[in-house]
Amino acid sequence: MSRDELDSGNVVVRIAYASVNYKDALTARGKAKIALKFPLVAGIDLAGKVEQSADPRFKSGDAVIVHSFGLGADHDGGYAEFGRFPADWVIPLPAGMSLFEASALGVAGHTAAHAIDLMELNGLAPAKGKVLVNGATGGVASIAIDILAGRGYHVVAMSGKAEQAEYLKGLGAKEVIGRNAIADAGRALENPLWAGALDSVGGAQMSWLARSMQRDGVIASFGNAAGAEFAGNVLPFILRGVRLLGVNVNNPIERMTMLWGRLAGDLKPGHLDRIARKIRFADLDQAFDELLAARVAGRQVVDFSLG
Ligand SMILES: NC(=O)c1ccc[n+]([C@@H]2O[C@H](COP(=O)([O-])OP(=O)(O)OC[C@H]3O[C@@H](n4cnc5c(N)ncnc54)[C@H](OP(=O)(O)O)[C@@H]3O)[C@@H](O)[C@H]2O)c1
Repeated sequence: MSRDELDSGNVVVRIAYASVNYKDALTARGKAKIALKFPLVAGIDLAGKVEQSADPRFKSGDAVIVHSFGLGADHDGGYAEFGRFPADWVIPLPAGMSLFEASALGVAGHTAAHAIDLMELNGLAPAKGKVLVNGATGGVASIAIDILAGRGYHVVAMSGKAEQAEYLKGLGAKEVIGRNAIADAGRALENPLWAGALDSVGGAQMSWLARSMQRDGVIASFGNAAGAEFAGNVLPFILRGVRLLGVNVNNPIERMTMLWGRLAGDLKPGHLDRIARKIRFADLDQAFDELLAARVAGRQVVDFSLG
């Protein structure tokens, strides 16, 4: 593909890194209707340096991040050496963050930061009690565990991968429990266990979470790795005041910029080196299959300098 064939925009970026997200794997394998044009350069986030800019806000050599706005869906995304984007989508790399860290975080890090910010705005605080993170070895969940632990929360990681317990404890989880820990007794309410919960999974886990929240507990729902539907009843909401927050990464650019600044500051994860590993562009095909089979712990990042 020549640069002229890339989708339009006034900023050309030489892409250094692009991460592998669940959504990218779904796109690559045609498992959900994500690609809205064809051909499409997939990849929903990227980090790199401005090669050329017709917008005064950016100049050649500036380090930048691009994600959302239909990237990797209806606009050519990160899995290429170059991308062309409208300047209004481009976020300057915050001080204190490397390009690799930006990509290791990517959409997953932005989603985790958005969710945690919303939860704290809704009253979550370390003193309120334990926070459960399910799909714990996933990209968003791994970063969320790291950030929450760094902020002093007692994090309980729920995972289908018993062999990854040490990885999860290394990120700061105080307890690791298996997926089979969920009660399915058909009760309207379970014992109140969690002040907060981040749900990557949906389905039966989401149903159980809603029933297991403490008074005024806060759930952030951002994923559907096990399915989009969940069964529920209103008692957690009307008897315990449980708050169910929807999390969508497609924020206005001002909020995106604010959250990226926080990801370089008070929300900076302490263990990105354990969470993310570099892969070659040629490894992408295998990376998609492994992600969809839930065999990956953490994040995979395409490093274009590896060839
Ligand atoms: N709302 C938004 O804006 C937004 C943004 C980013 C991502 N997402 C969504 O968030 C979810 C996680 O994304 P991600 O990139 O972190 O994906 P990921 O790295 O593939 O993580 C998903 C994790 O969910 C668990 N899981 C997978 N299949 C499962 C199943 N059938 N039953 C129960 N658990 C299962 C696995 O963790 P364990 O093996 O440890 O249990 C897996 O590692 C996806 O649904 C994605 O589409 C939404």
